[in-house]
Amino acid sequence: MLTKSDLTILHLLTLILIWIGMSTAQNSNLDERVSSLLSRMTLQEKIGQMSQFNGFGGTIPDDFKDKLRAGLVGSVLNEVNTGTLNEMQRIAVDESRLGIPLLIGRDVIHGFKTILPIPLGQAATWNPDLVEKGARMAALEARSQGINWTFAPMIDITRDPRWGRIAECLGEDPYLTSVLGAAMVRGFQGEHLHDKGSLAACAKHFAGYGAAEGGRDYNTASIPENELRDIYLPPFKASLEAGVATMMSAFNEVNGVPATGNEFLTRQILRQEWQFKGFVVSDWESVIQQVAHGFTESQKAAAGQAIRAGIDMEMASTSYAQYIRELLGENIITMEMIDQSVARILRVKMLLGLFENPYTDPASFPELLNDGHRAIAREAAAQSLVLLQNKQNRLPLKNDLKSIAVIGPLADAPHDQLGTWIFDGDKRHSITPLQAFRDNAGKNLTIHYAQGLAISRTKDLSGFSEAVNAAQQSEVVILFLGEESILSGESHCRADIGLPGAQEALVDVLAETGRPIVAVILAGRPLTFRNILDKVDAVIYAWHPGTMAGPAICDVLSGKVAPSGKLPVTFPTHVGQIPIYYAHKNTGKPPTPQSWVKMDDIPADAPQLSIGNTSHYLDEGYEPQFPFGFGLSYTTFQFSDLQISGPRVAMGESVKISVRVTNSGQYDGHEVVQLYVRDLFADRTRPVRELKGFKRITLKKGQSDTVTFEIETHDLAFHNRQMKLVTEPGEFQVWVGSDSRANLTANFEIIK
Ligand code: BGC
Repeated sequence: MLTKSDLTILHLLTLILIWIGMSTAQNSNLDERVSSLLSRMTLQEKIGQMSQFNGFGGTIPDDFKDKLRAGLVGSVLNEVNTGTLNEMQRIAVDESRLGIPLLIGRDVIHGFKTILPIPLGQAATWNPDLVEKGARMAALEARSQGINWTFAPMIDITRDPRWGRIAECLGEDPYLTSVLGAAMVRGFQGEHLHDKGSLAACAKHFAGYGAAEGGRDYNTASIPENELRDIYLPPFKASLEAGVATMMSAFNEVNGVPATGNEFLTRQILRQEWQFKGFVVSDWESVIQQVAHGFTESQKAAAGQAIRAGIDMEMASTSYAQYIRELLGENIITMEMIDQSVARILRVKMLLGLFENPYTDPASFPELLNDGHRAIAREAAAQSLVLLQNKQNRLPLKNDLKSIAVIGPLADAPHDQLGTWIFDGDKRHSITPLQAFRDNAGKNLTIHYAQGLAISRTKDLSGFSEAVNAAQQSEVVILFLGEESILSGESHCRADIGLPGAQEALVDVLAETGRPIVAVILAGRPLTFRNILDKVDAVIYAWHPGTMAGPAICDVLSGKVAPSGKLPVTFPTHVGQIPIYYAHKNTGKPPTPQSWVKMDDIPADAPQLSIGNTSHYLDEGYEPQFPFGFGLSYTTFQFSDLQISGPRVAMGESVKISVRVTNSGQYDGHEVVQLYVRDLFADRTRPVRELKGFKRITLKKGQSDTVTFEIETHDLAFHNRQMKLVTEPGEFQVWVGSDSRANLTANFEIIK
């Protein structure tokens, strides 16, 4: 006799079998469609599919129409005029021999028209659901205009805030980046690529781009293979598991081999080891840049090398179109390589449903910048704000204030608050902090505004007296400091990451007024600003928050929304500490508070070796300004009662770690509970801590909750000296708390 639960299991099994059957049938159907089309293609048409061209600003030149008709264009990027895009698709579909639709690519990095916080800001939300929602909103807006492929998410790990593209990535940590990158993929692509409003996503840049020497863009990356596999590659694997349709190769070389001609990266790891089924596009002209790298002697050789490495589509340059035929004739590449690339590209086009409908009708989509989209951007911006300092609980602002001074070069900078990579954003839609303050102020509140400095970089002090005046007339100063958007982003790296221009001097003169100061810093990267910390009461790090910066900042300053952002990257005290990151190694001589004798404290006649011989700087010590994961709230949270499911865990099993969290302060609030683990002894030394889980919770004042994490032993794996991914038996230490310095700790052991 079958019991009720047997029947349920049977039912479930049947459903699973039907599902497997359906998806296998769908896949083989798709494979058949692809190979049937491929078998009818000429070599010229195949090369066309592998070629991506830049758009022409809303027009289609006659010779490009001819190319479309001849099937010589697989994809177009940077064209956003909907009429032009529909017309391009029409020519490709109606007037070319095989009617293959186009992939239309665009950098939809953090929003399309409604601009979300820069990705680094989104990472500070530690909120995958919100990040997914933002990506979905951006996808809907972009797809409505005819775009069907975004070059995002950017999931390069970087530990160097000098690098301008840190703005565009999700921080320093492989786990956080994996979780949030996968969320972006899900948001862009929807449940199915052919869903209305889906974009094909592109995980980039494969690989190691964020390890550029000295934080100089495009520069050399030297990454030991185990670090490549343990730190730089996991976010790409996570994107792949989330179903990402495409990936982009990187500009940089990795250990002497440009990423765009790197068989080891693309052919071996991506395709053989990971079985990636999507296609790989080069970065902008990165195929032919192999010549400048000194890796191939000609563009023809560069094309051959990229194809051998498995780069399916060439962006912007035309070496594939020029040389594939010759390269085939000389047996440098094979027809099989070409067929595989074309098949992968066609597959994505079919999955997107482009053969059924290549066109777009914007009227059938929700309006751009609609209220719902702006609400998502506002929520994301509010959650991205990180409260770094709040002396005397200066924040939230009292609601009986009669006067506020709004000061600073970023208080009313509608373009700069949008941040880098906002091709389609428009400052006319931005609501600036100044505007939001004015909109919100009832008739009892006077806003005194002064820019102080015209732009963040200026050293012209002529606006200071007006700023001091505004401060003197006000009960509190809200000071908007930071970096203009042009100071971060691609190739916009900085050797000094301090507050640019005369901003520190502005803080000095305002501090002299004795008014309390709340600094809100808008920037594309972590800046160093310790000189102002003693002079201001509160600091909110706001990144570049996007279209809705103003309302979101007001929401948090007023206490309508509790601050909950956490740093996705370590903030150094001084640029000379870089690289500084939480998951560092212990070294054989780890520093301690006692071992660091500060340079100024060294007696003039100290013998050479009498000061602490540990790994630190005499002048800058070894601690960052603010650690990874850090962020305050208006309330306080206490962590207690750390429990581990058992002292020993068998290999292959999982361990549960739970902690009690209490809101012990005066406000309701959100906390991101973070779990860190250290493998105490291993075949290769392991980082002092690694993030292995996090959960965002909401607690009313006085409320408590128990948060439980479950990790499997394979979550603790790393690449050993034989380059095998292993979890080793032995002792592990865990910490749970509100940032990477959490001190509530316990141990467990993994046994064979
Ligand atoms: C960037 C890519 C981007 C591409 C297309 C390149 O310069 O590195 O990330 O997707 O341009 O705009």
